[in-house]
Amino acid sequence: MRVKEETIDQIRQSLDIVEVVGDYVQLKKQGRNYFACCPFHSEQTPSFSVSPDKQIFHCFGCGMGGNVFTFIMELEGMSFIETVQFLAEKAHIDLGETISNQAGQTKRNKSDRESLYFAFDLISQFYHYLIQNEKFGNLGLTYLLNRGFTKEIIQKFNIGYAVDSWDTLTQFLQKRKIDLALMEKVGVLSKRQFDHKYFDRFRHRIMFPITNHRGKVVSFAGRVLTDEKPKYINTPESDIFHKGNLLFGFHLARQDIKRTNQVILFEGYLDVIKAHQCGVTNCVASMGTSLTETQASLLTRHAETIIICYDSDDAGIEASFRAAAILGKEQHIIKIAKVPNGLDPDDYMTKFGGEKFLSDVIGASQTVMSFKMNYLRRGRDLNDEGDRMRYVEEVIKEIATLTKAVERDHYLRLLSEEFSISLDALKHQQYQIYRQRQRKNQNQNHQKRPPVVFKKLTTLYPAHEMAERRLLAHMMRNDEISEKVQEVIGGSFHIPLHQAIAAHLYAYYLGGNPPDLGAFIHYLKDTELQQKASDIAMMDVNEEVSDQEIDDYMNQIQNYNKIAEVERLASERKKAEQDNDFERATKLLAEMITIKNQLNRR
Ligand code: UTP
Ligand code: MN
Repeated sequence: MRVKEETIDQIRQSLDIVEVVGDYVQLKKQGRNYFACCPFHSEQTPSFSVSPDKQIFHCFGCGMGGNVFTFIMELEGMSFIETVQFLAEKAHIDLGETISNQAGQTKRNKSDRESLYFAFDLISQFYHYLIQNEKFGNLGLTYLLNRGFTKEIIQKFNIGYAVDSWDTLTQFLQKRKIDLALMEKVGVLSKRQFDHKYFDRFRHRIMFPITNHRGKVVSFAGRVLTDEKPKYINTPESDIFHKGNLLFGFHLARQDIKRTNQVILFEGYLDVIKAHQCGVTNCVASMGTSLTETQASLLTRHAETIIICYDSDDAGIEASFRAAAILGKEQHIIKIAKVPNGLDPDDYMTKFGGEKFLSDVIGASQTVMSFKMNYLRRGRDLNDEGDRMRYVEEVIKEIATLTKAVERDHYLRLLSEEFSISLDALKHQQYQIYRQRQRKNQNQNHQKRPPVVFKKLTTLYPAHEMAERRLLAHMMRNDEISEKVQEVIGGSFHIPLHQAIAAHLYAYYLGGNPPDLGAFIHYLKDTELQQKASDIAMMDVNEEVSDQEIDDYMNQIQNYNKIAEVERLASERKKAEQDNDFERATKLLAEMITIKNQLNRR
């Protein structure tokens, strides 16, 4: 599938990068640009910026940058073509006629990813067909109905059933001419050792399709119908499935998360599905592993309040604390909800329904700290002085981890009131723990974290590199400057990436393209070049640049080699003098003078 360059240009021009990015991060305007905490790496102070004039973004912390296409490709993990389709839809541009879709060639031209999407979609429909078919799917359907799921919700989540057979899916895929070796690789088929024949990997299991954030099936989880282990078999990671980047149910929840500015995080697929059935639709589940940074930032990007609602056993509580620690960014409200009587969220909603779940469980959710305080009470007799003191100490340790002073104050006051201990004494102890920990962290983190302040970073560039950056920044904005530079120094930039950008820029202008930062960055294609170019494009340079300034930059670049050569000669000369080889020393000096005379000629 190919999309014409004009169409891509049209898409780029009809979208505002500020709006596209604003769907994912909360942008704040500051001067001419917008700033936010970077969605590509974890940070506390915003170093991610978007320029509406240039229609590009750049993070001064991690170096990620580019135009709208780069942003969506990187953030959603889409291919270029997928990104074009995604953005075309946003821009209300119909790709229908512009795609050259020659009949017969489509299949062969499909990239691996696209054939995977195609196969997974087909398979999910097949499993779903089976569960609805009385003859094949009755066992699966009965199991789900017995657990209180409705036919509508089975439809909504496209749930299926893999029949108890060795070759039902294999035969189906064979008939559809799907590459069986590929299907084995992505874990829906297995291969017999002795005759290398393929067979169905999922047998007599309820099949949950896992979709990516656009609703495309990228993986399957198959649950047994009994208490046997393993409870789930999952398809492994693949080109289209990275479980650490996904949240189950996200595409169905996205709108409601935005509307409510709140998201409920469950542990199990079935919790999410039951919640939807009960009308609670702002919920997702992690994928059977601990919450990853990527999943956490996906949540915090979309909602201000995140409510963790895991199973109520000890493992679930411990997992809640871990998730809370990963989510614990300052600006967000992280809460933990506890389902009573050892029930799973799914069981609870089956028994009491969605409204009671919202009012009694979600409504009664507590801040992480309050929840921890309650948890630490377990098994203690607070009437006993020893137990009480140990409890207070543990709570103070937790309080010392809080970043906001008002919060620390709040919980210390609670302790003080409940146990009639002087607030000053509590504060003092808390402060000591805090200082101890800080000193330890300082020793550990000393070299780990570079500052992300841009101003400081710029000073780290050596002069010749800075000159190259400035020059390129002007060249990207002005084709005449680029032409002049091409004439004078051509490709002799010292930094290889700069050299490559200059070469592309010459070709770009030669192709009759006007100066347009966004268009040029798109023209670059290569991500490394795009990042470097957007970094440079984001620099604040004087728009009314003088010829003199441009000449100075070119001189610096040209002189750089010569200066290095002079330095080399100087040290050789010193050595020659030490060796009493004065003839050689004199010769070296003469060479140095010749080169020095060539410096700064223009
Ligand atoms: P649960 O055991 O709570 O599963 O594990 P569940 O989906 O809620 O199913 P029920 O209610 O017991 O029938 C929570 C999540 O952990 C992952 C799955 O993502 C599951 O949804 N998991 C669990 C696995 O991947 N494999 C397993 O064997 C078990
Ligand atoms: Mn469960």
